[in-house]
Amino acid sequence: MSETIKVLLSEEEVEKRIKALGEQISKDYEGKNVHLICVLKGGVFFMCELAKNITVPVSLDFMSVSSYGDGKSSSGVVKIVKDLDESLEGKDVIVVEDIIDSGRTLSYLLEILKKRGPKSMKLCTLLDKPERRVVEGVQVDYLGFQIPDEFVVGYGLDYAQKYRNLPYIGVVEGAE
Ligand code: IMP
Ligand code: MG
Repeated sequence: MSETIKVLLSEEEVEKRIKALGEQISKDYEGKNVHLICVLKGGVFFMCELAKNITVPVSLDFMSVSSYGDGKSSSGVVKIVKDLDESLEGKDVIVVEDIIDSGRTLSYLLEILKKRGPKSMKLCTLLDKPERRVVEGVQVDYLGFQIPDEFVVGYGLDYAQKYRNLPYIGVVEGAE
């Protein structure tokens, strides 16, 4: 059976929600600078759109982690593939993720980043699948959408590196 994509969240819905998140962040960080950390590659479309909707000064940095799994779930073994370019010392940091699933990737990443001396650190994710959580203690500060336990693609999210460029969030149907 061939793969098809069923729209879960349209481009308009996604962008409307990101605009609201940007406004919320702009309010919460009034008078401050915000340092956004994008978790590559999935977080990149979300971070760009979010940054455009933030009105306080923004700086950006990128990191890439691999969780040893190319299929539909993370293994729990997380490795930094590309580290940040800049120090986090004294910065008001927001970690921007595409999706939180088991929570393994994020809990590992947040532990590492907290040790680098940010003034504050919050977590912003476009999507959350709370039913799938296996790791406690990942607190989401800014959330786009809670979604059911389905494998989604688009807006940066991939299935075996495909579909990241879809401008909406969809569910993969008919995949092995
Ligand atoms: P976690 O460590 O299980 O929370 O997995 C987080 C990572 O797995 C995300 O950053 C994504 O890269 C990937 N992932 C989890 N669920 C999905 C999904 O539904 N679609 C695409 N990627 C996903
Ligand atoms: Mg990711």
